[in-house]
Amino acid sequence: MTAPTASRVALRGDLLDFTAAPAWGDVEPAGLRFRPDHWLLVEDGRIVGAQPGDQPPGDDWQRHDYRGRLILPGFIDTHVHSPQLDVIASYGTELLDWLATHTFPAEARYAEAAIAHEGAARFLDALLAHGTTSAVAFPTVHKVSVDALFEAAAARGMRLAAGKILMDRNAPPELVDDVENAERECTELIDRWHGVDRLAYAVTVRFAPTSTPEQLAMAGRLVARHAGVYMQTHLAENRAEVQWVHELFPEARSYLDVYARHGLLNERSVFAHGIWLDEADRAALAGAGAQIAHSPSSNLFLGSGLFDWRANLDAGVAVSLASDVGGGTSLSMLRTMADAYKIQALRGERLTAWVALHAATRGAAHALQLGSEIGSLEAGAEADLCVWDVAVGPVARQRDGLARSLHARLFAWMTLGDDRNLVDAWVAGVRRTPLAQDA
Ligand code: GUN
Ligand code: ZN
Repeated sequence: MTAPTASRVALRGDLLDFTAAPAWGDVEPAGLRFRPDHWLLVEDGRIVGAQPGDQPPGDDWQRHDYRGRLILPGFIDTHVHSPQLDVIASYGTELLDWLATHTFPAEARYAEAAIAHEGAARFLDALLAHGTTSAVAFPTVHKVSVDALFEAAAARGMRLAAGKILMDRNAPPELVDDVENAERECTELIDRWHGVDRLAYAVTVRFAPTSTPEQLAMAGRLVARHAGVYMQTHLAENRAEVQWVHELFPEARSYLDVYARHGLLNERSVFAHGIWLDEADRAALAGAGAQIAHSPSSNLFLGSGLFDWRANLDAGVAVSLASDVGGGTSLSMLRTMADAYKIQALRGERLTAWVALHAATRGAAHALQLGSEIGSLEAGAEADLCVWDVAVGPVARQRDGLARSLHARLFAWMTLGDDRNLVDAWVAGVRRTPLAQDA
């Protein structure tokens, strides 16, 4: 008999993932793959197959029995700000005031190495505790905050895209820098981190109002020079913001056009929000293969607007889901999906659990050009997995017991669940059991 090795792991539970995008409104889509009571086999950090629960793998596999629980790909949060955990749930303002009053002062503290390192560790542990195994994240303008976040992600084996925030106007002096210094620091960071382990650099323009045209041009140069880097920014989130962009860039057709003119619109662009867009913008996004990181919790909390998911879908724009903490009020992608449902309800639309779950897993992975790596339980994919209790507590258990279909069950999970439902998180085949939240 061979002793089990850490590199061969088998997880038993109800496997759920997608092989294709579910259609809007379809509660029994063909691309949904549900394999109740199966073993998921993981070797050297990658999924190698699955087999029925009554056919256990041999003794050379380390076996984990999660019978009765769901096993899903880890969630992907495509837009979140690591230092903004410090200002989550701050009272009383819309976007532009919120930035000035709460957010910029919090980000200024990340100039200090100790704060940046502690903050990065706290942030990534919290992501894992909420079932999120990958993220596209904003640290701050400070180089040390980027190093700290990448180091902490590498230590946890996580797939992460991030980059130094670019701002050179309309922000406090301690958070702006000049084009030359920013270009040098970004180039150093790209050389140090891009493509190392599971890390990717994202050229990170905060948003058009805090960059001069010269800085945007520099960001475009970085994107053009360094193959494979992402570009992340905010787009058309709030009406006052959109008006400000028109005043600052009168030559541009639209807010999106400001980015397009500077070489920042391509298939690796991640635009948070995209609420106040028109058909021409959506056609440009779809044509470029760019994605919208829809951030429903943030949009509700900051009173930004009701995202038209349907219009983006119809235009062929990839829509992923994001917490946008600290504009968003929870790192939980389940809470995020529940908020997304409510936004669509206010628009007279219905968001199925499948469209929401797909956007947070396979959909996000594909939009990030990582469809063969993360977001599914396909053989060959990296084993970023989360194990979930469908129902926690008497109310959810009662509701679960009365659910008459898989969609009804998972919709109730998505609507009632949060980090308390997470049983275990696995990152590249390694169990990263979240610490108790109050530890
Ligand atoms: N626009 C520019 N910066 C930010 C930010 O930090 N959060 C949100 N939600 N919108 C922004
Ligand atoms: Zn944001």
